[in-house]
Amino acid sequence: MIGRLFKIATVIAGLAAGSVLAATRNLPSNGTSRRAEPADAPTAEERRNREAKSSLKRWVKIAAALGVLAVIGGFLIAASGIIPIKASSGHWAITAWILDFSKNRSVATHTIGMEAPALDDPWMALKGAGHYDFGCRPCHGSPELPQPRVAWRMTPPPPYLPPEIAQWEPEELFYIVKHGIKFTGMPAWPSAHRDDEVWAMVAFLRKFPRLSADEYRELARGEADPSGEVAPLPELAGPEGARRALTTSCARCHGVNGLGREPGGFPRLAGQTPAYLDLSLQAYAREQRHSGVMQPIAGGLSGEEMRELARYYAGLPRPSPQPSSLEDQSAIERGAAIARQGIPGQRVPACVACHGPGNLPRNPVYPELAGQYADYLELQLKLFNQEQRGGTAYAHLMRQVAAGLNAEQMRDAARYYASLSSASGAVNK
Ligand code: HEC
Ligand code: HEC
Ligand code: HEC
Repeated sequence: MIGRLFKIATVIAGLAAGSVLAATRNLPSNGTSRRAEPADAPTAEERRNREAKSSLKRWVKIAAALGVLAVIGGFLIAASGIIPIKASSGHWAITAWILDFSKNRSVATHTIGMEAPALDDPWMALKGAGHYDFGCRPCHGSPELPQPRVAWRMTPPPPYLPPEIAQWEPEELFYIVKHGIKFTGMPAWPSAHRDDEVWAMVAFLRKFPRLSADEYRELARGEADPSGEVAPLPELAGPEGARRALTTSCARCHGVNGLGREPGGFPRLAGQTPAYLDLSLQAYAREQRHSGVMQPIAGGLSGEEMRELARYYAGLPRPSPQPSSLEDQSAIERGAAIARQGIPGQRVPACVACHGPGNLPRNPVYPELAGQYADYLELQLKLFNQEQRGGTAYAHLMRQVAAGLNAEQMRDAARYYASLSSASGAVNK
């Protein structure tokens, strides 16, 4: 093997050396250069011009030949296998500098003209924190363990983020988290369709440097048991994996009681129809519904675990919502009118036909909206409207509905359904 490599190397090196020699001597290959002197000999100036031109040509050829040699040389060095690619020794200072410099320049250039949306809705940081603990902490650490032992031996090592955040603008953080960083192991966001989720992560990152270990734990995990102990939960039958997923994963964001977490960000699952929950989990797992947060989680569940978790959450009660403030009342009334009558002029059908409330029989795959967080409902309507939300085999129905709604109508309809208690609707199970 080494002998063959050596032979190929000598042949290529010989060819390359020959071409450099030929170039430096400027030997013509077609033998037509020794033309007879023309009758009218060139003036001294013409001769000087011609000489300058041919000397330029010679240097261009030498540069090209050296370029070819460098490429061949580089290939031979790589082919010999002597370049160390081991992560254990870190980067040379020059490699680290080039990568860092290119990263900073690229991020700065690609965020020119980008503008961050408002990041101060409290549910945004909550949602970002929930995903951080699941998707980023294993590499970037937490106040409890700033340098996770396995990831710390990557090259370059993922930095503990709180001291780094101040050097980046929100748009730059967005760009890094959405696209990842080549040659470093920093991954892109799991779904290319959900910029809103990436902004929620940016909202959390901007808060991160000010959090104590306790505050971090509360924000990222809520009341979920950090020890990972599997609670007994007699209501949850089925495979052991479902119980483990519920305690260590779902509970952090949706709660063991399925009510999500105040002030929103994670949808309520309690009292939802089991068919809709099960098919939604399948849609995430098959990438038919986009979410960088839920896709990796659903992708780790078996079909049996999905069915059992759907059955468990659907069986829990959804309490009546708190009476809303007066300023919401007019929005709720406008929303009620949309839900009952639709908006014929904008080809929007009445929502109650599919979502209730009322005693009409309903397809069990059509979700219950009553008592859901208003922010979540509004966001989903926007995603349908922008054709960024997939879902079950019936999702196309909802895309047609949302296409006719404007931003204010989406907000009103969301507020209306959030204000209802599910007891007033015909929950179909
Ligand atoms: C597999 C490990 C890994 C995961 C998972 C990961 N990162 Fe990274 N991240 C890295 C590495 C490696 C770098 C690059 C460090 C460098 O360029 O020196 C990085 C860089 C970054 C940076 C730029 C930091 C700086 O100052 O250069 C940010 C911000 C960041 N990651 C955020 C996140 C967020 C948010 C998540 C979760 C959604 C995440 N990362 C998930 C490994 C990871
Ligand atoms: C890190 C937080 C987080 C964890 C952990 C999590 N979820 Fe979610 N879940 C979300 C978010 C955020 C959404 C909304 C995603 C979207 O916009 O599509 C969601 C949506 C859902 C939906 C769709 C609800 C609807 O009304 O359409 C189901 C079903 C669901 N999750 C089930 C689960 C189950 C089961 C688990 C545990 C195996 C789990 N989730 C773990 C954050 C989480
Ligand atoms: C023809 C039936 C139909 C009508 C009419 C309809 N929807 Fe839907 N809606 C659906 C279906 C089906 C889904 C579930 C899509 C999926 O994920 O597969 C859905 C989902 C939703 C969701 C997301 C729920 C969640 O938990 O993620 C919202 C919000 C919603 N609809 C609001 C409305 C509003 C507001 C109206 C009236 C303007 C309306 N819908 C009218 C069928 C309908």
